[in-house]
Amino acid sequence: MSKHQYAMVMDLNKCLGCHTCTLACKKQWTDGDGMAYMYWNNVETRPGQGYPRNFDRMGGGFDVRGNLRPSKLPPLEDYGEALEYDYGQRLFGGSKKPVMPHVLADYGPNFDEDMGGDDTRNPYHFYLPRICNHCTHPACLEACPRKAIYKRAEDGIVLVDQERCRGYRHCIRACPYKKLYFNVVESMSQKCIFCYPRLEKGRPNACAAQCPGRLRFVGILDDQESPVHKLVVQHKVALGLLPQRGTGPNVYYVPPFLPPKAGHPRATVSQDPRLPVKVLERLFGPRVMDVVRSLEGELRRAQRGSRSEVLDLLIGRNDSVRYALRPDIMKRSASGK
Ligand code: SF4
Ligand code: SF4
Ligand code: SF4
Ligand code: F3S
Repeated sequence: MSKHQYAMVMDLNKCLGCHTCTLACKKQWTDGDGMAYMYWNNVETRPGQGYPRNFDRMGGGFDVRGNLRPSKLPPLEDYGEALEYDYGQRLFGGSKKPVMPHVLADYGPNFDEDMGGDDTRNPYHFYLPRICNHCTHPACLEACPRKAIYKRAEDGIVLVDQERCRGYRHCIRACPYKKLYFNVVESMSQKCIFCYPRLEKGRPNACAAQCPGRLRFVGILDDQESPVHKLVVQHKVALGLLPQRGTGPNVYYVPPFLPPKAGHPRATVSQDPRLPVKVLERLFGPRVMDVVRSLEGELRRAQRGSRSEVLDLLIGRNDSVRYALRPDIMKRSASGK
């Protein structure tokens, strides 16, 4: 167990699917050799298959007895390749349609972008940004026979020791979120570092800082003044992804809150949800509808003119409270970019 735990909360109701977070991370951390396919931060569309494809159906994590569950090592085809657009033709060749010479690629990051659910009267979609969850019980750490993965005692950030790693890839198999990536050039696994060199300097994670939707909150879970403590611990309106996998994820989501179904204008969201409950429960666990009801209650309170601390936080009434960074508790590192 770590002494403190850094965490991130993402409000899925505000995500624009703009991928600025992905680019911010890529530019800062994964533009080296062997890293082209790595998206330490990726943004998926639901319904959709995710990145790598069907990662959430591959197993991994722990069973009820605390043993590692079997899982698949995703082949490269499940990561696909980014579709390339011929911008020269689009902009200067007189074509009115985007030209995609590489349409033969049958998968890629965010392949399912903006595809709605199949109920045409009540379509839905939402974006799901994902990073490593810096889990309380990291399956990746447990699976590595080289003990090359460690969880920092002072802030709970999970890192791969690049000197110790020998490229066994048991960690990738064990992670239920498939948030480690194998670098074939370096022959080792690499993953999100929660931007610890930035946090140590008092600067928020690159993916959070650049997000135009301002939906990411960062802080220490046990710091009562931090927005993550308020949303996760105090008000309980944010949940981890795939909690049934037993790793104790420390990235939390305020679940998407779509209007009720067409033809039921007076129904509350929880009475007649447009977004299938089974979809939400599969991703965020059995408590998700309690959270939706709680958010409805906060909305009603605000509509009556009362103050709602939850909504004040989520809509960013006071933007200075989005981050509660604690460089004082973090170990100083000389390796910061
Ligand atoms: Fe390890 Fe995966 Fe958890 Fe990250 S999300 S700490 S890679 S088990
Ligand atoms: Fe990338 Fe930093 Fe965000 Fe992790 S926290 S996904 S390293 S930008
Ligand atoms: Fe969503 Fe923010 Fe990422 Fe844009 S930058 S996709 S709004 S999380
Ligand atoms: Fe261990 Fe994964 Fe490296 S299992 S040796 S950290 S590739």
